[in-house]
Amino acid sequence: MAQSLKGRSLLTLGDLSAAEIRLLLDTAREYKRLKYAGIAHRIHEGKNIALLFEKPSTRTRCAFTVAANDLGIAPEYLGKDDIQLGKKETTEDTAKVLGRMFDGIEFRGFKHETAEELARHAGVPVWNGLTDKFHPTQILADFLTIEEHVGRLKGVKFVYVGDGRNNMANSLMIGSAIMGLDFRILAPRELFPEQGLVDWAHQLAGGQAKITLTDNFEEALRGADVIYTDVWVSMGEEDQFANRINLLRHFQVNRDMLSLTGNPEVKFMHCLPAFHDALTATGRQVQEEFGLDAMEVSDEVFRSDNSVVFDQAENRMHTIKALIALTL
Ligand code: CP
Ligand code: NVA
Repeated sequence: MAQSLKGRSLLTLGDLSAAEIRLLLDTAREYKRLKYAGIAHRIHEGKNIALLFEKPSTRTRCAFTVAANDLGIAPEYLGKDDIQLGKKETTEDTAKVLGRMFDGIEFRGFKHETAEELARHAGVPVWNGLTDKFHPTQILADFLTIEEHVGRLKGVKFVYVGDGRNNMANSLMIGSAIMGLDFRILAPRELFPEQGLVDWAHQLAGGQAKITLTDNFEEALRGADVIYTDVWVSMGEEDQFANRINLLRHFQVNRDMLSLTGNPEVKFMHCLPAFHDALTATGRQVQEEFGLDAMEVSDEVFRSDNSVVFDQAENRMHTIKALIALTL
């Protein structure tokens, strides 16, 4: 049975049971239906939430903003140079002040401990909008998208390719363990997740989910329902650029990789932003310095009928709305 989520924070998916994730996904689907039908759902009229961002964001910021507005809530964006946090004021004091004024706080930043510290002292729900370690709200959108396109979560053969120890890989592994997916990481051994997290995932799975870490393409990809990838260099790790390209250049998701699944209907997923061409400043730099037209995914696969990346992006808003609605 799902407990009430009222007053709860979301720092990692490990904070939630399978029944609570189920409740969030079903609620998100209902809000999506209401939005498409043009039916107002301003159930938190008059409330206020703070959106703290130490790192840039398109989807997460916009999803929180639109979701809040649709629920009748006023969102306040606080960028890294807008407030005293970290420079003149501790996280604890900032949390206490924001908690006196706002009904909830979103935090995107570097250290996961900052999100934990905010949650300890704010007295209102704190939602992790991405830290170096976890990105839980993204996985809620990903799971909704998988249910829409594959029809279920349980037993889905899900392959995460690339940097197997970043916030996305960590969160997908924990979420898949709770929801009973057949989760596989395909990565070079140097980029496997921390053993402590893998142990935690096995514990959460309780024999329900399968978790495989491998650098063997055949083993990982055979029969896959979903192939997921993310950037090779996450925000804050820019000094790793050359090293990561060397480690991961053979792990690009392209037509050959999709063929190895043997499933013409395999879905391609990516949390975005994606380096699928050389049209951005970074893309151009990678093309000039490393001779690659794309990094983690080829432009062909990104734009193919297998790709559901923009459904994922849209579902950020519906799932974040469910999270705000149920926790306030
Ligand atoms: N997927 C995601 O979190 O995107 P943003 O960095 O644009 O928020
Ligand atoms: N791993 C990426 C995710 C971006 C949404 C990063 O942290 O930069």
